[in-house]
Amino acid sequence: MQFRHTPVMVREVLSHLDCKPGDLVADCTLGGAGHARAILECILPGGMLIGIDQDRDAVGHAADVLAAESDRVRLFHDNFENLPTILSDIGITALDGILADLGLSQYQIEASGRGFSFREHEPLDMRMNADAEVTAGDIVNAESEDRLSFIFRKYGEERWAGRIARRIVAARAAKAIRTARELADLVEAAVPRRDAAKRKIHPATKVFMALRIAVNRELEILDDFIIAAVNCLKPGGRICIVSFHSLEDRIVKTRFREMEKACVCPPGFPVCVCRRQPEIRVLTRKVVRPAEDEIHVNPMARSARLRAAEKLSAVST
Ligand SMILES: C[S@@+](CC[C@H](N)C(=O)[O-])C[C@H]1O[C@@H](n2cnc3c(N)ncnc32)[C@H](O)[C@@H]1O
Repeated sequence: MQFRHTPVMVREVLSHLDCKPGDLVADCTLGGAGHARAILECILPGGMLIGIDQDRDAVGHAADVLAAESDRVRLFHDNFENLPTILSDIGITALDGILADLGLSQYQIEASGRGFSFREHEPLDMRMNADAEVTAGDIVNAESEDRLSFIFRKYGEERWAGRIARRIVAARAAKAIRTARELADLVEAAVPRRDAAKRKIHPATKVFMALRIAVNRELEILDDFIIAAVNCLKPGGRICIVSFHSLEDRIVKTRFREMEKACVCPPGFPVCVCRRQPEIRVLTRKVVRPAEDEIHVNPMARSARLRAAEKLSAVST
């Protein structure tokens, strides 16, 4: 198994996390462990890295890559939505830094054999976690036309969601849709030719992204994860989130703004009754994007967007 992934915006991630020797940091999306290794170099001596990934292959790969420092690393095959439980199980009460670099690794797309790429004759799986129950094939072959159309429109922002859903439902009545390539061909046939020719991306790109997001509940868990993760930080601790999708980035931006707010009393109130204190200070007023030289070397970094925040000390009133 060839595990390949080029980590994005490593310089920017490290500077926003501001890791120091002795720090306790969680990398919630190990992937190829590129960020994990860079973080570890900053927090040693004395620091500890907690590494999480819901893909067992990524955790196995990280164990190899980080083997030399295995006494300073704890790895978990889990969903990052379980970060608070993972920490309490190992007796850690608060962290100095948390990283989530969302989405897929290159390994998952190119070599996992799980149908993430529409070019391959691979089973329609798309689970990052092989133990999860629902596959992309289950959704494509069992969900109603309305639900499929909703998924493609909401998660893929696909203009032809209804037509594509109709085509899928008609095709599967004759024979179940088994492979990524079969689905890609159906989608291609459903998108009007003139529109397909105008697109810079393959006509199936958005549908595949939408299915992947649905299978892995990627948008559903993100907001709650941010709230829980900030709770796991020490005052002064930092959270850094790299996203690759405008819907994800919107969730991060909105939640950070919400947590940065002080009083939320209605404008007409003469005095504050909510007594709310800001929980974080946002460090990235504008979203941070990769530098041109990085995009040149690694075109997959093009859509990366980084946002970071620092946890504030609770102010007693
Ligand atoms: C873009 S890659 C991370 C790359 C990594 N930062 C590196 O340096 O190589 C994203 C990884 O996050 C994992 N992942 C995505 N959502 C997750 C979740 N909710 N819980 C745990 N892992 C997740 C994926 O399985 C994938 O391995």
